[in-house]
Amino acid sequence: MEIRVERGDIAQHSADALIVNLFEGVTQPGGGTGAVDQALDGAISRVIQDGDCRGKDGELTLIHTLGKISSPRVLVAGLGKQDKFTLDKVRSVAAGAARQLRRRRCETIATITHGAGIAGLDPEACAQAIAEGTILGLYRFGRHKKPKDDDVEVRELVLVEFDETRLEALRRGVERGVTLAEAANFARDLANEPSNVLTPTELAERARALAEETGLQCEVYDQSWMEEQRMGALLGVAKGSDQPPKFIVLRYQGGGSTHLALVGKGITFDTGGISIKPAAGMEQMKGDMSGGAAVIAAMGAIARLKPQIDVTAVVPATENMPGGHATKPGDVLRAMSGTTIEVINTDAEGRLILADALAYAQGLAPTAIVDVATLTGAISIALGDVAMGAMTDHDSLFDRVDRAAKSAGEKVWQLPMYDEYKEQIKSDVADIKNTGGRNAGSITAAFFLKEFVDETPWLHLDMAGVDFYSKEKGITVKGASGIPVRTLVHLALELAQEPLATTATG
Ligand code: BES
Ligand code: MN
Ligand code: ZN
Repeated sequence: MEIRVERGDIAQHSADALIVNLFEGVTQPGGGTGAVDQALDGAISRVIQDGDCRGKDGELTLIHTLGKISSPRVLVAGLGKQDKFTLDKVRSVAAGAARQLRRRRCETIATITHGAGIAGLDPEACAQAIAEGTILGLYRFGRHKKPKDDDVEVRELVLVEFDETRLEALRRGVERGVTLAEAANFARDLANEPSNVLTPTELAERARALAEETGLQCEVYDQSWMEEQRMGALLGVAKGSDQPPKFIVLRYQGGGSTHLALVGKGITFDTGGISIKPAAGMEQMKGDMSGGAAVIAAMGAIARLKPQIDVTAVVPATENMPGGHATKPGDVLRAMSGTTIEVINTDAEGRLILADALAYAQGLAPTAIVDVATLTGAISIALGDVAMGAMTDHDSLFDRVDRAAKSAGEKVWQLPMYDEYKEQIKSDVADIKNTGGRNAGSITAAFFLKEFVDETPWLHLDMAGVDFYSKEKGITVKGASGIPVRTLVHLALELAQEPLATTATG
């Protein structure tokens, strides 16, 4: 779809539908909504008076224009209370409105820039949020379904702006929003793809294609390379699968003093291995490469936005399968770092493949490492499907990730890394074991990972609670969430602006 900014009067714009807005409690609409109301001889104020349009958060009121203006429909989007209005609401209003109009088979839409009027938010940021919200909200994964005759796609969204002096800022915002949202949708496509399609080989191919399109450097290493590198932990997981594992590295060189390494878990399907998972819900484990998808997708957006920073993405990709060659509970693996690992549970495979990927990333001598993984079910017990868990020893790195998440409208919450937790992963036969029992499962997993990074500031994001949604709401659609692609891109942009304070705290 195309998103454009045009100068003009929204009331005179011709599209299948116009989107205007209303704050809760407003009875006399102003701005663009007021202009459309006037052109409709007060139809919007009348609907407000009749009590059918109250401006409540998420409310959508469709009004037919009966030939009074050239667009046949006006959708009044409720913005809720003015003092509670944020950019997150702009995204979510744009998403909900676009979906509603697609259901009405509108192919062309024009909108005013929610938030840039009486709410007084930065117009550029609002335009960005509208572009993001629309593209994220309209996403669907239809690749494996017969097309329905009455399905339409929205082809065009025009932001109509009266004030000439704002056009340039709005255009910048739209461009950024499109880049960010398309990157998140790229990650959604990868995570939604079934594992018989998205094998480690296919994941690597998609990363390579993205690299070619955006000018990133791409390296895909195979099993013999992993053997040369002595990546015994990754290989220990890959052994059980007939699909060849891949180790994907993407590089962006924007210069500057910071080198950010992004490491993403790339388990293209997690059966649990010999410690096999129950059947119910196992199909969701096709999304166990969401962390890998997020870092690959973020690289695409970073390459397009060109911040002054170096960024490397590292994705170890394999299936986790049971079978005659599979690693068994009690087996001992030797990681690339030399640390030996007693495998207590083959279903704690994410930390095994990340062990070698983190050691590899650390070898690149980056300024900071952020890893992203659907690592533990325990993180959903702690934080539900609302926030990712963040674990780190570097409070300043946490602050930066938290700030980036806030810019993106995504949520993180920090869990403690008290040394006492480390006791739980002591092994009698190896240097460490790969599970630490039920208590504090997300934190002991982070302690396991920590074993493979030395001095480099490092932060672990456990996204197992937010990778997949079964309900549509705002920018969230059914299936893969595309989280935390936009957080990672913002982190790179913001680190390029202001490097990380290097002192470790905590
Ligand atoms: N991929 C799973 C974690 C997961 C669970 C992701 C639910 C998304 C939704 C991970 O590999 C796993 O199986 N973790 C185990 C670890 C345990 C064996 C220590 C878990 O959380 O049960
Ligand atoms: Mn697992
Ligand atoms: Zn897993």
